[in-house]
Amino acid sequence: RASPASGLTPELAAVVRHRLLGAYDSRRRDLPWRGESDPYRTWVSEVMLQQTRVEAVIPYYERWLERFPHLASLAGAREEEVLKAWQGLGYYSRARRLRGAAQVVMERFGGELPASAAELRQLPGVGEYTAGAVASIAFGEVVPAVDGNVRRVLSRLFDLPDPGPVALRELAASLVDPERPGDFNQALMELGATVCLPRSPACTACPLAHLGLAHVRGTVGERPARKVR
Ligand code: ADE
Repeated sequence: RASPASGLTPELAAVVRHRLLGAYDSRRRDLPWRGESDPYRTWVSEVMLQQTRVEAVIPYYERWLERFPHLASLAGAREEEVLKAWQGLGYYSRARRLRGAAQVVMERFGGELPASAAELRQLPGVGEYTAGAVASIAFGEVVPAVDGNVRRVLSRLFDLPDPGPVALRELAASLVDPERPGDFNQALMELGATVCLPRSPACTACPLAHLGLAHVRGTVGERPARKVR
């Protein structure tokens, strides 16, 4: 899809995909949920990662899977037990809804997570981001997944002061790699988490710096614009 407002041409999209995936292939962090083929595991990791840093999530993710190795074990667990396994991660509604969604999957989908973002979106607690992340990473669906990191990266790449959620999703949708959507989405998150940092971005280490409109124009520090309080 063309996105004339942002200046995204098919040629630019191709260069961004190539450079971003190249950097991801050589420098990606080795995280326990990477290379997993069980969609339940992808889902658990993405829900935990919503409001919690990678380093904090790792031990919880591993313990969680020992206690609830399959979606059916989570659906059948008592709420107390589920909250106890979540204890310390914060935002406990995430744990309650994860269990609730597992029960819905058992009842309505025969115990198999649905494979499209549109269906995943119907589950309790699964928003646009989580649906896109799980569908692209676990099922290879060509859909975007825009979290806070991705928003910052795209704001700088296209020098957008304050892009709204719909514009961002459209931009990300025209950028996502059709062959490797899950890796592409994770590569964008990875860039935002390790290089394209909020305060002191490491533009000299960025595979997209020479393409970054904000970098070229000198506006990186103002992208995305800080909210006026
Ligand atoms: N943050 C959210 N999802 C992530 C993922 N799959 N890898 C790294 N950081 C993330």
